[in-house]
Amino acid sequence: MQGRYSALILLVSFITQLLIAGTYASHAQNPHDMDTMGKDLFIENRCVRCHTIGRGRFVGPDLKGVGDRYAREELIKWIENPQAVYQATGKMPVNEGYPPMPPMDIHPMAAQAIADYLLSVKVRPDTGKGGIITGKVLDKTNDRAVPGVKITLTSFMGDKETSTTDADTSKDGAFAFASLPWDRSYMVTVEYNGAEYSTDKMVFYPDENTKTLDLPVYEPTDSGANISISEGHMIVQAVEDGLSIADLSSFENKGDRMYVGSVDVTGGKKETLRFSVPPDAANLNFIHGVSAESIVRTETGFSDTGSVMPGPKRVVFAYTVPLGSGGGAIEKTIEYPTENFLLLVSKSNEQVTVEGLAGGDVVKIENEDFIKWSGEGLAPGHKISIKFVNPNAWKDYIKWAGIAFLILAVGAGILYSSRSGRVSASADERNEKGRRNAVMRKRSALIKEIAELDDRFEAGGIDEADYKKLRENKKAELIEVTRRLRF
Ligand code: HEC
Repeated sequence: MQGRYSALILLVSFITQLLIAGTYASHAQNPHDMDTMGKDLFIENRCVRCHTIGRGRFVGPDLKGVGDRYAREELIKWIENPQAVYQATGKMPVNEGYPPMPPMDIHPMAAQAIADYLLSVKVRPDTGKGGIITGKVLDKTNDRAVPGVKITLTSFMGDKETSTTDADTSKDGAFAFASLPWDRSYMVTVEYNGAEYSTDKMVFYPDENTKTLDLPVYEPTDSGANISISEGHMIVQAVEDGLSIADLSSFENKGDRMYVGSVDVTGGKKETLRFSVPPDAANLNFIHGVSAESIVRTETGFSDTGSVMPGPKRVVFAYTVPLGSGGGAIEKTIEYPTENFLLLVSKSNEQVTVEGLAGGDVVKIENEDFIKWSGEGLAPGHKISIKFVNPNAWKDYIKWAGIAFLILAVGAGILYSSRSGRVSASADERNEKGRRNAVMRKRSALIKEIAELDDRFEAGGIDEADYKKLRENKKAELIEVTRRLRF
């Protein structure tokens, strides 16, 4: 069941990603390009923990000018498999005075991209002063800078916190931290009106001396009137002893204030978002947008107590429901005005009936058949009921073909969040290795597809408009996948 369950999470995430792909594409900000791939990979694969480029010796040699010392193939070998270098040279280490380089477990495609980056990188002269992180704190509710507020910079060496430094914002809301060592990662936190906001961990790129951030903060509100759901999804799969259900909601706070909740729940906390879950639900797993620490179980499901920033917020969780031999039912109550709701039930037989939604068509998603129901403009209190008859007939029917390469959307695009609303670390960590591998595979496939597309275009096999559009799409996907591989 465990295996199936994580496969479900992969599937859910993949579907989430399909659904939000449009949003992501439009988010592809600065002209991020194939050229930055190698650079991103250099950061993500932790090369920066041991190497600088033009900033001097570290655990390993400075990689500036490494192209003068090695041919491309040799570089790839260093990255992909240092052991092979040691075997070929009969020396370990190769560079005197350094320890050997450990195997980094880098995919061949990634190794090529990194090698190309090392060969082409233009190194800025090191100022010798270290890195700078500067920025401004802006109150987006009142559209003004926030002076005199405390900013905390936390430094990490790997996962270990090494130090914290405080600074107050100036009259115009600005702050700056200077002389930062290159080999750390950094997180900036600001407390405002009782809420804590923090960035993700950041590192300096080898050619970056200054990072500039805008930190938006908001005035609080206890009115939930601006909270709605643009897309709600429920995906139901049969598992050995019951059903596995994934629930996805794309919330929107259409106001310009941080919603801090109004209804008291236990421990003096306030409920911000409410979720309906069947009473016999088990294995509740918070995948994205809510964490076990910030939720409170209620009679009808659970409530989150994390503040809701203006803008979109995605919440994904999953659970299982046992089914008796005679079948069973799941009921879900719509809690917020919902523009679109989609229910997908893996197709086994037609022994499913649904009330409260329309549909019943079969759709194919990644080689698996689902029956689809949907609803529009659903009001709070609307009930959706799903009844299953003879669930035993389901068991043999489930196919997981193609699922291995499906990828997790978890963690994507979240660069700045309210601390209380951060991604559940535990769920993430548990899936981290599988996730990275899956994402890595996905990325390699994308790189290859783009290369093939380029070849086809060069060979005149595709017209320019189509080529551009296809390449744009693949690139956007690649950027997104890249963003998903974080420290
Ligand atoms: C744990 C530390 C560590 C990490 C992480 C690491 N390296 Fe290394 N690397 C070293 C050391 C130490 C050497 C020197 C080993 C030797 O001379 O035998 C080295 C050598 C190299 C060399 C050859 C340099 C030369 O001048 O001979 C290249 C290229 C290189 N690393 C690239 C990378 C890349 C790319 C990554 C990330 C995928 C990476 N390394 C990750 C420690 C590391």
